[in-house]
Amino acid sequence: MTVPTWTPDSWRRLPPPAQQPAWPDKAELDAALKKLATRPPLIYAGEARSLTSDLAMAAAGEAFVIQAGDCAETFAEFSPNRVRDVLKVILQMAVVLTWSSGVPTIKVGRIAGQFAKPRSQETEVLADGTTVEAYRGDMVNGFAATAQARRPDPANMLRAYEQSAETLNLLRAFAKGGFADLAAVHKWNREFVASSREGERYEAIASGIDSALRFMNACRIDARSLHEVDLYSSHEALILPYEEALTRQDSTAKDAWYDCSAHMLWVGARTRQPTSAHVEFLSGIGNPLGCKIDATATIDDVLRICERLNPERRAGRLTLISRMGKDRVRESLPPLVAAVAEAGHPVVWMCDPMHGNTVRSDGNLKTRRFEDIFAEVEGYFEVHKEAGTWPGGLHLELTGENVTECLGGSDNIADADLDTCYLTACDPRLNARQALDLAFRAGELLARW
Ligand code: PEP
Ligand code: CO
Repeated sequence: MTVPTWTPDSWRRLPPPAQQPAWPDKAELDAALKKLATRPPLIYAGEARSLTSDLAMAAAGEAFVIQAGDCAETFAEFSPNRVRDVLKVILQMAVVLTWSSGVPTIKVGRIAGQFAKPRSQETEVLADGTTVEAYRGDMVNGFAATAQARRPDPANMLRAYEQSAETLNLLRAFAKGGFADLAAVHKWNREFVASSREGERYEAIASGIDSALRFMNACRIDARSLHEVDLYSSHEALILPYEEALTRQDSTAKDAWYDCSAHMLWVGARTRQPTSAHVEFLSGIGNPLGCKIDATATIDDVLRICERLNPERRAGRLTLISRMGKDRVRESLPPLVAAVAEAGHPVVWMCDPMHGNTVRSDGNLKTRRFEDIFAEVEGYFEVHKEAGTWPGGLHLELTGENVTECLGGSDNIADADLDTCYLTACDPRLNARQALDLAFRAGELLARW
């Protein structure tokens, strides 16, 4: 079902959206939304349009994208150093990928707004037998397993907005203030290679970058782009009242609406149905959009999503984020890639090798094996090579901290090590070393593209 005229609240005329909390107090909810609607936008529409232009390059095979950050940001884990360290990893990966692919790397954080989580189970039974709402992300309720913490509290949306503003402010400062200087980022990569067990393997890429930097120095190339970067924000548009409250009419083009909670918004695997309220909401905003594509998606689903979210077939408008699982990607992705190409939809394809490869550890922690993650990336690249399409980018859950949440990598994190530093509020993230391992390995594949 669709509604004839899009407005920021037209999704409310459809059957209720999935994955929304049971807000216990309507007056409390309305008051929070009213406040949110008066808050300043977090992004400017022109920035969202710049990201669309950048993504149009990726759709044409002339850029690669890295979209990465926490599975779920939290209030408790927020600190300037954590923001700095996640940015540092993204920058380091981007340098490796740019060198290897020979095209610019577009940098998009899963950050400054990634506070809401879809859940497979709506409720959870506590040790004392009481049934409570599942943890839906800090934008909604608390992680602690108590009835009080799990009560959805609309004030959390305001707090998420405020933390997003603080995070974005810091990211903008780092991106433009000198922190992202190319020579400095390469120096961190050199330190990583020197201290990595896989270092020798990565030497070819690292030496290539050394030579390029020396060459640019010798030519006295000192462009602004070597000292600062563009960094964009993104999150899953899950809690629709929050997204609606931050949706504003563009001041320079009156008929255009932008969701000013982030530069890019995506719809998740559980809410991506072409007739869903989530897809209705996203269809009317001017931001670049993403849609997760899991192994159950049919050709018809994907083509209808493309039509709903990008009927004008504008390059850069829509990114399809494949998250099939390492065992399904080679079989499930090719028909979808072929159908989208044949229909003439200029999408960016991206690989999320995280969400189809989640397993339980011996101690019942959610984890992922580095080798499985890389195997999906490899399969995904093979599918695109075969189809003659561009693999577009990587969508990852990672952190700059030294966590032990995913197994393997060159530090060989074992099942018994997971307890050492398992901090995630939701899915297991690559730590900084595993993330860089993945960038170098993916870089090896891209260098031979
Ligand atoms: C996520 O990206 O954290 C997520 C929940 O993904 P998916 O919708 O693909 O399951
Ligand atoms: Co996740």
